[in-house]
Amino acid sequence: MKRALLGLLLLLTVPAWAASASERTLRIADTRIAPPLDPDDAAWARAPAAALRLYPQTTVPGGPGGEAVMLEARVLRGGGLLAVRLAWADADADSSDKHATHRFADAAAVQFAPAGKTLPYVGMGEPGRPVQVWFWRAGQPAERLSAQGFGSLTRQPGARLAAQARRTATGWTLVLRGKPEMRAPAAVAFAAWDGAEDGRAGRKRLSAWQALSGPDGVLPAALREEARLGGDPARGERLYAAHGCAACHAPEAGLGPDLAHAGGIHWPGHLRRAVREPAAFRVPGYAAIMPVPSLRPEQLDDLVAYLIGLR
Ligand code: HEC
Repeated sequence: MKRALLGLLLLLTVPAWAASASERTLRIADTRIAPPLDPDDAAWARAPAAALRLYPQTTVPGGPGGEAVMLEARVLRGGGLLAVRLAWADADADSSDKHATHRFADAAAVQFAPAGKTLPYVGMGEPGRPVQVWFWRAGQPAERLSAQGFGSLTRQPGARLAAQARRTATGWTLVLRGKPEMRAPAAVAFAAWDGAEDGRAGRKRLSAWQALSGPDGVLPAALREEARLGGDPARGERLYAAHGCAACHAPEAGLGPDLAHAGGIHWPGHLRRAVREPAAFRVPGYAAIMPVPSLRPEQLDDLVAYLIGLR
């Protein structure tokens, strides 16, 4: 009985994440007036809640490691403003005010991807494909930033970004509200830094891109190829072994990024490109040693079907 109850609780708190495109879609709800800044405002119940996992960013040396953290996200739009409400677990409040107990403060970010047929690299964009970032740090005013890859964060001028955060028994609830810099962002991704883990810069937890959809909840047509998933994961796993991918990607090898959460953080399109043409985008901090494996298109799909299952 106890077991069954525990199982049920786990199901409720950590929903299994099938690789279907609809699970990477976040529905925006429209309001007639500006969305509320108060995270406890009743209007938030109108926005569908997406339960997402934030994965430790294992591609960064000294990253947080450990487990994924659940984050609930809701998006409201109205009066020319977009508002995002985030709720996530974080055991103790680390603020950058005078009561600070840790050197680093808890922080969170919402990343916006421009419209297009592909999504930029989820770890802060890539050269020539900037992402816009709304950044909040406990005890500080929220900031607008722009990034074109790791370490390229720059402040964005523009209208003030409003923020209201509240401590709950288990973590933070935060609303960020502003005018989006992009006319119609295609997707959003979320990140959280835990001050208690010395969280800063790349040492964060990160979600996959979530395509923003209208009230129908349907994946925008432009991103269908990016979300396309075919192939057979079991055949993909055999190809992974046959092509010696683990020689670099096993965590102890340390020559390529740890792919333990690759499927949780990336879309199929990114994984296809990463394997087919590694030179097109290099994960920062690694040497350009990734070989181009010789694969037929259906074998590439098998490999990606395997990689997307790594979470
Ligand atoms: C000789 C070492 C080496 C081998 C073998 C290798 N890789 Fe890589 N791989 C890397 C390196 C280094 C990077 C990061 C730099 C880059 O993006 O090119 C990388 C990047 C990647 C990425 C992107 C990860 C991310 O977070 O964006 C994927 C996916 C990937 N490799 C899959 C594979 C697969 C599948 C195979 C086998 C067919 C393979 N690799 C074989 C070294 C290797």
